[in-house]
Amino acid sequence: MNNIDLKDAYLKFFESKGHKIIPSAPIIPENDPTCLFNTAGMQPLVPYLKGEPHPEGKRLADVQKCFRTNDLDSIGDTTHHTFFEMLGNWSLGDYFKKESIVWSFEFLTKHLNIPVERLAVTVFKGNKIVPADAESADIWKYLGINEDRIAFLGEEHNWWPNMELLGPCGPDTEIFYWRSESEIPKKFDPENENWVEIWNNVFMQYNHEEGDKFTPLKNKNVDTGLGVERVTAILEGYTDNYKSSVWRDVIEKIEEISSLSYDDEQYTKSMRIIADHIRAIVMISGDEAGIKPSNTDQGYILRRLIRRMIRYAKKLNIDIDSNWEQDLAILIINKYSKYYNELERNKNEILDTLKNEKVKFNRTLEKGLKEFEKVVNNLDGNLINKDTAFRLYDTFGFPIELTEELAEELNLKVDTEGFKQRFKEHQEKSREGAIGKFKGGLASTGEMETKYHTATHLLNAALKKVLGPHVHQKGSNITAERMRFDFSHPEKMTDEQKQKTEELVNQYIKQAIPVEKLEMKKEEALSLGAEAMFIDKYGDIVTVYKIGDVSLELCGGPHVDNTSKLGHFKIKKEESSSAGVRRIKAILE
Ligand code: SER
Repeated sequence: MNNIDLKDAYLKFFESKGHKIIPSAPIIPENDPTCLFNTAGMQPLVPYLKGEPHPEGKRLADVQKCFRTNDLDSIGDTTHHTFFEMLGNWSLGDYFKKESIVWSFEFLTKHLNIPVERLAVTVFKGNKIVPADAESADIWKYLGINEDRIAFLGEEHNWWPNMELLGPCGPDTEIFYWRSESEIPKKFDPENENWVEIWNNVFMQYNHEEGDKFTPLKNKNVDTGLGVERVTAILEGYTDNYKSSVWRDVIEKIEEISSLSYDDEQYTKSMRIIADHIRAIVMISGDEAGIKPSNTDQGYILRRLIRRMIRYAKKLNIDIDSNWEQDLAILIINKYSKYYNELERNKNEILDTLKNEKVKFNRTLEKGLKEFEKVVNNLDGNLINKDTAFRLYDTFGFPIELTEELAEELNLKVDTEGFKQRFKEHQEKSREGAIGKFKGGLASTGEMETKYHTATHLLNAALKKVLGPHVHQKGSNITAERMRFDFSHPEKMTDEQKQKTEELVNQYIKQAIPVEKLEMKKEEALSLGAEAMFIDKYGDIVTVYKIGDVSLELCGGPHVDNTSKLGHFKIKKEESSSAGVRRIKAILE
């Protein structure tokens, strides 16, 4: 069984049990500006777990693209990955414990052919909200799991996600597999690390709300999750995930490019990092959100991944100027396009993004590394100060994490806090500069620019109505003559859609809706569903512009006080901006 088979077998199995196979949601959450990446299969399904009907019905299954930044520093060991795939099946108020457990058991024992003797389970032992889950335990026993192999555990193990996070949650039952060749103990000891968790079935019945309230959800749901990389390695008998079929071809390609061996310990870690990062880079830059390397949010993570990968490629003496990164990216695209066909669609974007960032970084990397060496040689003590760290960032493009990593290898420390302070000052200065420029512009032609600013809010709202709620602002640029507006949308707009959008904006203008400026807490704005492009950029109290019930957006302004002041809105052009991002140029006349 390899990973391709695991995914296929899983989806086919749940399809045969009446599940609709839905495509993976984008790796960048579409309607949750508080979160940079999807981190679990259920995350894009939260509204449906809370009771909204899903267009595909009540039984769903998928393989979801997930990314976790908290594991970035652990990459290089045998089991952590930044990007990973999660298989899941869901019941939205349809089947519950019995079917969920019976089907998991059937899939594991009949389709993956795991002997029952190798399985053990945990079930919830009860808390102030729900009693012990005797029902799940009875179902497991009925299926042939010996009582000794069922452990009742508390909130810290069998409540997902945990008792702190807000949102849908509930008790779970977790399935473990004995992965060692040694004799399987009769009694299940969850602390014995030869028992490894392979599947988590959550019975989502509560919504954890502010004030420690656990309110029953409208439906009793099932949410299960099974990590492809982990389970594949376990089933194939590897303790090193990178030896499994998920990674074998990637590692072999890196061996071929570098002419070095993965089994040579001095190279193993670098190869794992390159393998992990190239896959994550392809998935992030191939996502419909059209992420590009930058210094904020997802773009910063992408930049870090590319730069870190290049540094490790250097350690393997790979010729950075050769096409090594393109070859690796193509391998990943070909391997995963079947499940994520946006990768094929965005292939050129992915390859260009990677190449451009490589060229940019490589130009200064060599010099930066020399500079770092100089710094170390002249260092008095063991601390790299904030000014040096900032210089490495500003002049040589070293993300602070790279400086930290280089320092750590030599047992040195970095004044990261000081760096961050310095970084913030720098940002504020450039922002002031930008605002200064904007104000300067406003002094002479301010009226028009202000109008265009309000028009972007109306256009954003109209596009959402015409194209759907996936539309979000990705950027804008305003001059006195025209506006440019970038937004997430996977395909070219039809003439009809353009016409409808134009009509809607003009309708809002005709309706003479007052534009109100409000101040509120960031959380409140988000809970009211306010649009926000980069949520992390804002402080706790935010300015929100409300245009009747048409639009609510976090924004610094300035705006006109009534939509009637805008005149007539006209779309001049609609074109592609980058992968998954469209651009509209429009004028007010
Ligand atoms: N949400 C659970 C998990 O991520 C089950 O899918 O483990």
